[in-house]
Amino acid sequence: MLGRLEGKVAVVTGGASGIGAATVERLVSDGARVVIADLQDGPGTELATRLGSSARFIHTDVAREDDVRAAVAEATTTWGRLDVMFNNAGIGGVTGPLDQVSEAEYDATMDVLLKSVFFGIKHASPVMKRQQSGSIVSTASVCAFEAGIGTHLYSVAKAAIVMLTKTMAIELGEWGIRVNCVCPGYIATPLASGGTITDLGAERVGRKVERTRQRTADAQAIARSGEAEDVAALVAFLASDDSAWITGTAQLVDGGLMAGRPWRKQPSYLTERKDSAPG
Ligand SMILES: NC(=O)c1ccc[n+]([C@@H]2O[C@H](COP(=O)([O-])OP(=O)(O)OC[C@H]3O[C@@H](n4cnc5c(N)ncnc54)[C@H](O)[C@@H]3O)[C@@H](O)[C@H]2O)c1
Repeated sequence: MLGRLEGKVAVVTGGASGIGAATVERLVSDGARVVIADLQDGPGTELATRLGSSARFIHTDVAREDDVRAAVAEATTTWGRLDVMFNNAGIGGVTGPLDQVSEAEYDATMDVLLKSVFFGIKHASPVMKRQQSGSIVSTASVCAFEAGIGTHLYSVAKAAIVMLTKTMAIELGEWGIRVNCVCPGYIATPLASGGTITDLGAERVGRKVERTRQRTADAQAIARSGEAEDVAALVAFLASDDSAWITGTAQLVDGGLMAGRPWRKQPSYLTERKDSAPG
């Protein structure tokens, strides 16, 4: 049986690790061919090699417009089209109080988290306009909706991605291009654990990710941490023609985090029934 993404070509930024890597694997297993665009050459090349002729790696710094343009060109020169652009690369961004944030730190954070998405959409759209079809997905976050889960600028960038998704959806819909974003909650990945595979090595990062997995298991209605594969499944749906009527949306994938405090953590006056005796 053919996969639901058979014949489609995708670019996944941040595809060497975490949510991006899981999405690369999922898209390929659904039949797509994928360009992995990432800063981390080792893990990116390793993943591409493992996936064989369905994947290629290109060194990319998404903070640079030229690199984003080159990642799109890698897809079109190799496979002649681009059906799916997943703007996913990310970092935690600058931390600490407002008065200690420098202009350079502001720019470095916003360039990776927001500028990259804008230019990802800019360079994917001409190819998709020619095809009169395409699906653009970007990774926002639950931090777009609630302050205090991520740092200030991280949250601001993610909220901006939600609005960018809407503005681009109404513009690009004229050419049959859909634009959506995914908003993950706590996902057990290197980013959420304070390190990268390249900096710390796969084993040490693996231990840190396991600690994140345990620490966040109880935070949401579904009592386990989110996994990169949970997000990948949503991206694969948004990439596919099964979501043909869905555009301009921000889709939560958070185990119920944004729905509210889990029942098991509610005070007893809300969860215990008080039957008033009749009469
Ligand atoms: N893990 C979570 O809990 C969580 C929750 C909500 C949103 N997100 C978002 O998910 C996305 C993926 O993060 P992840 O959790 O999978 O982390 P991750 O660290 O596993 O993956 C992020 C990838 O982005 C790459 N990257 C970073 N800066 C880059 C740059 N300038 N150019 C190219 N590649 C770059 C990294 O090398 C890495 O491979 C990010 O946008 C992040 O903000 C993560």
